[in-house]
Amino acid sequence: ASLPESKLSAQKEGFRFFMEKEIYEQSEVLSDTLIGRLAEDAILFDELNPSLLEGINEIKLCACGTSYHAALASSYLFERLGKIRTSVEIASELRYKEPLLCTDTLFVVISQSGETADTLETLKMAKAAGLKTLVVCNVDNSSMVREADAAILTRAGIEKGVASTKAFATQMAVLWMFSLYVAQTKDTIDAETLRKQIGLLREVPAVVRVHDDLHERIRRLSKRYLHGHGFFFIGRDIFFPLALEGALKLKEISYLHAEGYPSGEMKHGPIALADPELFTIALMPKNLLYDKTKSNVEELSARDATICAISDVPFEKADDFIPIAAHDHYMLEFFETMVVLQLLSMEIAIRLGNDVDMPRNLAKSVTVE
Ligand code: G6P
Repeated sequence: ASLPESKLSAQKEGFRFFMEKEIYEQSEVLSDTLIGRLAEDAILFDELNPSLLEGINEIKLCACGTSYHAALASSYLFERLGKIRTSVEIASELRYKEPLLCTDTLFVVISQSGETADTLETLKMAKAAGLKTLVVCNVDNSSMVREADAAILTRAGIEKGVASTKAFATQMAVLWMFSLYVAQTKDTIDAETLRKQIGLLREVPAVVRVHDDLHERIRRLSKRYLHGHGFFFIGRDIFFPLALEGALKLKEISYLHAEGYPSGEMKHGPIALADPELFTIALMPKNLLYDKTKSNVEELSARDATICAISDVPFEKADDFIPIAAHDHYMLEFFETMVVLQLLSMEIAIRLGNDVDMPRNLAKSVTVE
């Protein structure tokens, strides 16, 4: 189906930046991405040939940049929900590492543009090795869509901001659905769990809606985070790739130094950096390893790091606290935390006077190696 005219001509419509508009649009484009793909008790991808998964025992995900973070995050879902062995590759690395590619692997590339040179080359490489290929892409008729055996389109509409927001959100929705599709096709998920997951997916558009009070709170507290010697974004499990994405977003548009880390790795080196000038953005969802994450954050707090906690459980040791709504599943916490991270990096970058839509040194699509 073609996109409505409103999505083809991107205008700022009163927002300060395209990035801001695109963050606010996420609810709508996620609805578009889900539409027609969720039955009561089944995931529907009419665009896929049912034979796509025949003989497939492994999934290899490959991408660059933000799309790589979507790959990494979804790998948790492919193994946990899809019950399929999954590996993740950075496209520029895979190209030259002489990988062993097996024909029982479905090779999945993820790309907003469908044109990123490194990702496109890995797709060709996998095809040449005889693998079945799938692309998760935002641009119909892009090089990758034409090249791959199968394509699932994210329906994010045109993304103008160089820092990807709504494309990432829709990639996550598609990959989550696809992990369930794998389980459903291979009959490794019970009807009750599948129904529950579908119910959760339906809640996502409402969860990512930006509320004025949340945005205002983030705008106000962002002034504390303009200087200092760096940021750690930390999380566990699927919140680790989200931490990487939060750090990337901040780097891209604020030019501040930021790193994403798995919370449990802090003690293996990075905690040596802890002091009040080290800002730690702690992702602490109630429904996923909360106590473990909490004790990691407490260790940082005991060493005087400045902590900004994002959680649905109040955390008194935080210097700043950004509350998300209480959800009963970590994937809903994931999507709401994603919005918080997008707003936080944007507000910091705006305070620093940067052009968040056109950050220095970066391009929306990298079509050279
Ligand atoms: C560039 C963009 C990033 C994007 C990456 C991959 O570096 O600045 O925002 O994540 O390319 O792009 P793709 O279109 O393949 O998702």
